[in-house]
Formats: sequence, structure tokens, C-alpha cells
Amino acid sequence: MNDLLPGEIEVWQFVETTARTLFGRFGYGEVRTPMVEDTALFVRSVGEETDIVGKEMYTFEDKGGRSLSLRPEGTAPAARAYIEHSVSNVEPVSRWFYMGPMFRYERMKTGRYRQFSQIGAEAYGAKEPAQDAELMDVVVQFLEALGLTDVTLNINSLGDDACRPAYHAKLVEYLNAHREELCADCQQRLERNPLRVLDCKNEKCQAVAGAGPNVLEFLCEPCRTHFTDLQRKLGALGIRYVVNHRLVRGLDYYTRTVFEFIASHPALGTASTVGGGGRYDKMMKGLGGPDVPAVGFAMGLDRLVLLLKEGGKTFTAQPDLFIVAADVDAACQDAALALTSRLRREGFYVEFDTRGGSLKSQMKRADKSGARFSLVLGGDELRSGQAKLKPMAGGDLIPVALGSVAQTLRQAATQPSSPSSLKTQE
Ligand code: HAM
Repeated sequence: MNDLLPGEIEVWQFVETTARTLFGRFGYGEVRTPMVEDTALFVRSVGEETDIVGKEMYTFEDKGGRSLSLRPEGTAPAARAYIEHSVSNVEPVSRWFYMGPMFRYERMKTGRYRQFSQIGAEAYGAKEPAQDAELMDVVVQFLEALGLTDVTLNINSLGDDACRPAYHAKLVEYLNAHREELCADCQQRLERNPLRVLDCKNEKCQAVAGAGPNVLEFLCEPCRTHFTDLQRKLGALGIRYVVNHRLVRGLDYYTRTVFEFIASHPALGTASTVGGGGRYDKMMKGLGGPDVPAVGFAMGLDRLVLLLKEGGKTFTAQPDLFIVAADVDAACQDAALALTSRLRREGFYVEFDTRGGSLKSQMKRADKSGARFSLVLGGDELRSGQAKLKPMAGGDLIPVALGSVAQTLRQAATQPSSPSSLKTQE
């Protein structure tokens, strides 16, 4: 679990703001659900046999003797809220997004934490493949807006209740025949959740799984049509993808479409999946709600931030102006403080060192702050009402009347390349 301090938080805010803007453009409204839910919610949706529920939940008993869990993901809580507020009675299609911390007791490494953040979106009420495609487009445009381009979309279909049992049986038969070649974990998975063998990272298990039955060959007609239509729609959107028949995901609620966005940057190590999702048409009903189809995804915010930090872009805001109080006397300090306050009210990011100190030390701080301009305020300036703006990147001093600093700064903002060519404001 990580602390986020100023200096780093700006990257997070950039990702969050980008998500809010973009998801809004697609008609997704934000939902916020509690961080704890009844443990049973996750058992019944994510699945008892998954690693998430079986091994990784932070579960505790509250003072009323109820078993609660810190949410390990956002899909089940959103579905619970959707059912509890009878949303399907008032609108046939709902599009929601959420962002916030999730908790999984995982083995930690780069990009894998016990408290991590997800940005997710869920679309309820549309069973058509166009909805799956639209959601993938949300992710594609989101990644584009973040400037993350080296990401591959993998898609697969896991079929539904009509066709998955036959695939499942074939897979178990095949894996049993290769039991000795599987790692100890997979031998156990074979008993409890054989699909999980397909995404084991062990090379031998991968080889066995790769040569095993292909889920796509078992799809019934409606599932096959859904998957083909989806691919045509992705083509229409110009979205590139790879069909990966071994993509199974770590949650049990999926039917038909599943997908993952995988980054190829070494900074993520093996935690290269920046997001994933799929269709879960049976979950609502399974939780006692209406028979409403749904599809969604979640992106790992921590991983997106790691990628962005590798990109070397700066996200920290730089002050427009650093005001230096040249004299330590009270009048000068008061004037500097008041000017700072006034400019902030005008919308500028202004720094003023409340500790005061020598001119030299304050100029050093001005330098370090990364401010675009500094302005020295001393007895002379106060008497004449005239000061000078110093472009910190170099260039001529700009005379400015103390009453119109805001105007001059505003003008500077429209002339980013040559601040020293500014006209004096009287
Ligand atoms: P998930 O694949 O378990 O799916 O998680 C989605 C994303 O969360 C992952 O791709 C990864 O980027 C990030 N993530 C997961 N665990 C960690 C961790 N321990 N540390 C850092 N990042 C992590 C879901 O959670 C589904 N609810 C997605 C979904 C929404 N399906 C349908 N709707």
C-alpha cells in the first residue's frame, strides 16, 4: 500500500481528470460505492474458487457479527448498487464509471499492490456486441488521451451456459491427461477451477495449455455470431486487436466476450495488463436482481501511472510568479503577502515565501520553485508603485506597475515563447 505525496499525485490527477472528461463524452456517469461490502457479494459474483475471493480478500467480522470484505474489485459493488436502487425500472440502459481503491492480499511486486486503484466502466442493459465494441473504444480513446500507445488489445470469447460445459469437459479431460506436466498450483487448479490453468505463467503449463482445446471451436451459434460481429465492429472503429483463445481472466462472472489491454513496456515487468474486462450477462440475475445483460472493464491506475512516469513528462504545475519581499520590514512583507493574495484571486499560481529571509536566499527559492517570473518587492517599489518582472528562463526585466501585475502576467500567458518581448503595462 502506497502513500501518494505532492510531486507524484499530479500524475494521478492527470489520469483521473482525463478519465472523467472522456468517460463523460461517452455518456458514462460516475458512481461511488462503499469500500466494504458483504463478503457474500464477492463469493457469489467473482467466485469462491478464484484467487481473488479464495486467497486475496481482506475479510473481517464487524461488531454486529457480519462478514464484510474490503472490495477487491468494482464490478460486483456497482451491480449491487444497480439492483438495490432498482435502476433497471427507470432506465433500460445505464452507463456508469467509477474510480477508487481496491484491496487484494497479493504477492507484491512492481505494478502489483495490496491497495491499488481502478478506473472502471460498466454498461447495463445492452446485450449487443456493439456495446462491447463501444466499451473497448472508451479504453482505446482513454489510452490515446493519456499518450499511451504501446498497448495491445487481446480478445476472446468464453461462450455461455449453452456451449461452455462441453468445452469445460474437454479441457478437464485434456488437462488430466497432461496432469504430470503441470505445476503443483495448476494440479490443484485442475480440481477447482481448470480455466485458470490457461493463464498460469509457468512455461510448461503454458505449453500444455497452448496445445489444448480451443474455446472458440466450441462456441454455439449465438456466441460465435456475437464474437464475429464484435470483430467486425472493432474493424469499423479502426481498433486493432489480437484474438487470444487462452485469455480467460481471473474472475468467474464472465460470459462471451473477455478482453485485456496489455502494455509492452518493461517498467511493468510481469504486471503488464493495464486493464481488462468482459461481458457478464448472468451476474445480475445470479445476485437476485433483474435479468439484465452487462459488460464492463477496469484499468489499473497504478500501472497507468508507472507507464506515464516512464514517459518522462512533467505533470507538476509551475508557479506563474514568485514574489520576493526584499526588505524584512513589516510593511514590505505585508505588501508582498497582499499582492500574492490578490493575484491568486485573479487566478494565478503565485508563491511567496512566508519565512522571508535575505534577498539572495529568496531568489534561490524562486529559482528552485520553477516559477516563470519573479518579482522583487522592496521599499523602492512600494514608494514608486513600479516593479520589475524577471523571466526566470532569462531575458530582459519587464517593468510593471504594481496595480497591473495581473494584466501583464495574463499577457505573458498568451506569449509563451518570448516573455521578454512583453509590453509594459501602466
Ligand atoms: P481485473 O483484471 O481483476 O478485473 O482488474 C483490472 C485491472 O486492475 C488489472 O488489469 C490491473 O491493471 C489492475 N489490478 C488488478 N490487481 C491489481 C493489483 N494487485 N495491483 C495493481 N493493479 C491491479 C476486474 O477487477 C474486473 N472488475 C474488471 C471488469 C469490470 N470486468 C467487467 N467489468
